[in-house]
Amino acid sequence: MLVKDWKEFLIPYEQAVEELKIKFKSIRKQYRSKNEYSPIEFVTGRVKEISSILEKAKKLDIPLNKIAQEMEDIAGIRIMCQFVEDIYKVVQTIRQRDGKDLKIVYEKDYVKNKKDSGYRSYHVIIKYPVQTTEGEVEILAEIQIRTLAMNFWATVEHSLNYKYKQSIPDEVKERLRRASELAFLLDQEMSEIKEEIIEAQKMFEIKSSIISDILDDIITLYSLGKISESTDYQDKFNRLLESGNIIELKELLDELNEKVQQTRLHLFQLEE
Ligand code: GTP
Ligand code: MG
Repeated sequence: MLVKDWKEFLIPYEQAVEELKIKFKSIRKQYRSKNEYSPIEFVTGRVKEISSILEKAKKLDIPLNKIAQEMEDIAGIRIMCQFVEDIYKVVQTIRQRDGKDLKIVYEKDYVKNKKDSGYRSYHVIIKYPVQTTEGEVEILAEIQIRTLAMNFWATVEHSLNYKYKQSIPDEVKERLRRASELAFLLDQEMSEIKEEIIEAQKMFEIKSSIISDILDDIITLYSLGKISESTDYQDKFNRLLESGNIIELKELLDELNEKVQQTRLHLFQLEE
């Protein structure tokens, strides 16, 4: 196949990866905008390099005219989660879309059944329709769902494989298996204190949003001409920020909201 033909062949895959990334990122956004905990931490995606496709086709004896049907990971999406439980929530949302905007071909649970290498992840192979100028084409894509710890391990192992050209020395392999065991324990420990972690993250979010609203109000007051009040509030805010009390910060925000509203109303009446 000519390079030009490859480029054309890969267009629907690129489109699929872009679309799927947007769709899974938007799930995260929806949770976030409701101030809810999101089972999706972040999403990445890639189209396999032409050189890697050729290498794999050779290794698995796939004829070039069968690549589209037989190579499942030309389009790849990776979904990272904070907790192991989240992986199954994400799988559930994918299953809910089965027969709607995608079709599940099969699933592989390497979370419950880790590979000999120590690899853990949940894989879902899907068929995904892409609209092109030539009409609809259905491509295969691989979705890998894993925790941050699993991702860390897989990334390190992958680069070692690359370094040792697929034949990692036994001693290093053994270390990787132990590291995988530790990553598993890390995931377990994190699940144990999941509720506490989520609570802390929520607290942090709430505090950030209060602080950002306070700053907005202080700037608004200033721009409405209440210079000295604005400065006073800023001093007060700085003091509260040091003590870090979230309840007091919220009280300051309520007071500021009231002040801004009154000022606006007053200016409005003056105009009439
Ligand atoms: P492939 O020929 O790689 O597609 O293997 P397969 O068809 O048997 O599928 P499998 O589910 O085993 O692996 C698919 C993908 O999972 C790979 O392309 C990798 O991205 C990832 N993967 C599987 N095993 C390992 C592993 O031991 N280490 C790392 N780092 N990734 C792995
Ligand atoms: Mg595969």
